[in-house]
Amino acid sequence: MIHPVIMAGGTGSRLWPLSRQLNPKQFLKLTDGPLSMLQATVARLDGMNADSPLLICNEEHRFLAAEQMRQSGHEETRIILEPCGRNTAPAIALAALQLCNNSETENPLMLVLAADHLITDVAAFQEGVERAVPLASQGKLVTFGIVPHNPETGYGYIHRGSNLADNCFTVDRFVEKPDLDTAKAYLDSGEYLWNSGMFLFGARDYLNELETHRPDILAACKSAIADASEDLHFTRVNAELFAQCPSDSVDYAVMEKTDKAAVVALDAGWSDIGSWSALWDVSEKDADGNSLSGDVITHDTSNTLVRADSRLVATVGVDNLVIIETKDALLVAHKDRVQDVKSVVEQIKSDG
Ligand code: GDD
Ligand code: MG
Repeated sequence: MIHPVIMAGGTGSRLWPLSRQLNPKQFLKLTDGPLSMLQATVARLDGMNADSPLLICNEEHRFLAAEQMRQSGHEETRIILEPCGRNTAPAIALAALQLCNNSETENPLMLVLAADHLITDVAAFQEGVERAVPLASQGKLVTFGIVPHNPETGYGYIHRGSNLADNCFTVDRFVEKPDLDTAKAYLDSGEYLWNSGMFLFGARDYLNELETHRPDILAACKSAIADASEDLHFTRVNAELFAQCPSDSVDYAVMEKTDKAAVVALDAGWSDIGSWSALWDVSEKDADGNSLSGDVITHDTSNTLVRADSRLVATVGVDNLVIIETKDALLVAHKDRVQDVKSVVEQIKSDG
């Protein structure tokens, strides 16, 4: 039995103005279809030998998270609430501690997923998880490595080592978000995979590696969850103790340091919709390369993403733009500059 753990603590600020602090990316319906990204993550587990997922998110999204899990038929799901974000290494540690406390098995297998990924080939995803199970059962910390199709700079890369089993490898090294030239060289070599940020490992194995490499994070998480309060389906970790936890990603804190890492290659139409251009990439487009939703009229317009939520939007004679219209804010950006949308959000925050 696999225990899915879904991390839903991100802010998705590059998808402003749709993604907001109180309603971030993972709770939005971004691609066609009725499900939010979180709900699609849950639905992707259908048919697997898996427990009800454990969710870990920020306290301020508790009702949104609980309501979406209820709509997905997982009313009983446990939700760990973080009073503040401390990145993924502590989030996974809290989930691992909770699983070990509540499980009859010594080392329950946890499938760590992010709530904001798109996967178009669900069968390939499930088959990849199946391939990872024997490795994780032998004590490996398995990461899922995506077969890259373009030199993306928004992802971490994994240089695969020797063959362990069918499409499973040892990890030679991780490289977090390389520059474009490096990414191009990695793609050409055929030896690199994208770090998907999804993992399968024994909860106890993860905690042991964290103890070796970041005992400070483990100690802070242990005390914060030992002093948690439980109400309804929520586990609320102690705010003061968790605030003292150092912030670090699972990639830096554990995966780059452990000698137990393995990578399972996955070609499942995976994408982390990290920006508006990434959404345009995966969207259905008309003959001019436009992806349009809502009330939109275009004339002599190409390679453009338009999303109109509350008004009619018309474009004339433009190329390669992103136009996102919502009730209270409008974004017009060059499609090659969408990574900078983040700085608009920072400016709004600092202007208070
Ligand atoms: N609960 C919780 N708490 N979840 C968190 C926290 C936190 O403090 N911080 C991040 N997350 C969740 C996010 O919601 C997201 O689903 C996932 O963890 C990854 O965090 P990101 O902040 O989106 O990381 P990234 O995109 O910059 O980079 C990571 O993911 C890439 C693939 O999507 C790295 O692992 C890269 O190497 C990787 O390629
Ligand atoms: Mg991300």
